Amino acid sequence: MQSRMLPSYYLSQDVFAREQRKIFRKLWLFAGLTSLVPDNNSFIVRKTAGIPVVIQNFHGQLKAFENVCLHRSAPLQQGFCGRRALVCPYHAWSYDVSGRAKNIPDCDAIYGFGEVEKQSLKLREFALKQVGSLLFINLADEPMPFEEQFQAEFVESLQSAAESFDSEVMVTTWHGRFNWKLVYENLRDFNHVKYLHGKSLASVASFPFLAEGSAEQALEPLMDISSAGLRKTMRPFSYGGPEGVIEAIRDVPWLQRVERWGSQDAYFNWLAYPNLHIASGNGGYSFTIEHHVPVAPDRTDVEIYFVTAKRKAPYAASYQVLLANMHYSKKILSEDIEMLERIQSVLHDDAPIPTQGAYESTNRKIERWYATLMETGHEL
Ligand code: FES
Ligand SMILES: [Fe+2]
Repeated sequence: MQSRMLPSYYLSQDVFAREQRKIFRKLWLFAGLTSLVPDNNSFIVRKTAGIPVVIQNFHGQLKAFENVCLHRSAPLQQGFCGRRALVCPYHAWSYDVSGRAKNIPDCDAIYGFGEVEKQSLKLREFALKQVGSLLFINLADEPMPFEEQFQAEFVESLQSAAESFDSEVMVTTWHGRFNWKLVYENLRDFNHVKYLHGKSLASVASFPFLAEGSAEQALEPLMDISSAGLRKTMRPFSYGGPEGVIEAIRDVPWLQRVERWGSQDAYFNWLAYPNLHIASGNGGYSFTIEHHVPVAPDRTDVEIYFVTAKRKAPYAASYQVLLANMHYSKKILSEDIEMLERIQSVLHDDAPIPTQGAYESTNRKIERWYATLMETGHEL
């Protein structure tokens, strides 16, 4: 069977811009961890679908705003995360929990704003949703309900795992030279593990064949191409739970120092369409949160957060545990990233269309949805 994905979907600036508008500015997207904004004035800075966003803690209340000052458009906060009141560094306008300009120094003396103008100064606010320690934002003016994007069982399972995350987190970013869709296609392709990761992941875990429904089903065109129909169709693209079988978990000392999530010796995977992947390769002792941020048609930032399950008490070597996890993941991930970069490097407008087998039915369903959405005038 031929894939529906045309080379231009991975190469074209125009397609990329349409994806940003029709997908990334409409869907709920991962935005960070609550442990990065633990107390008053702590913040996270992001660029999501091209829009600068700040998530700020106001005395325990988390809010997401456009990270652009209403005066001369300076970014309000800088860096990846930190602790600082929401005050513009340029001329010191400050903003309150509702995003209103709270204090404008020398307002009456030099700006001469009337009361009505002053009242209208309010930052653009985005919807924010917390699932355990995971934060999601939605950039749409009228965000779809979170429950329309993700199935209840998926959210429950994700929440249960994410509630067990420890507050200590290590973050690293890879600047990949490939289109963002190549990553999720790769993540939904278990068949590559034993070949591409033959010497790494495949030597400690195996991924049994999962029957995913018939591929023929995905051949028929989508019947309901209304916005509601498209949303409904995409819900099964996100799923999670035990997916692989692992060898007996090696008894390393730090395992005793954390409250393990669950008790099942399995490789856990949660895939949240479009760009979040969480894995626990050791049955709930530690987690890797992988977030794929499209930057350009051939550029994707892969941000990875490493956490263990909650520590029973702080211990000196916890940092080394995260570092060791990072080195191990880097090895596996670099095998994936290298392959995706190679695939991207041979793409051109007239490249052969990929051939797919029955086992790739999940990707086929996503492609059918994607091609329908991209080609129609519909928004999600
Ligand atoms: S640009 Fe922010 S206060 Fe002037
Ligand atoms: Fe892989």
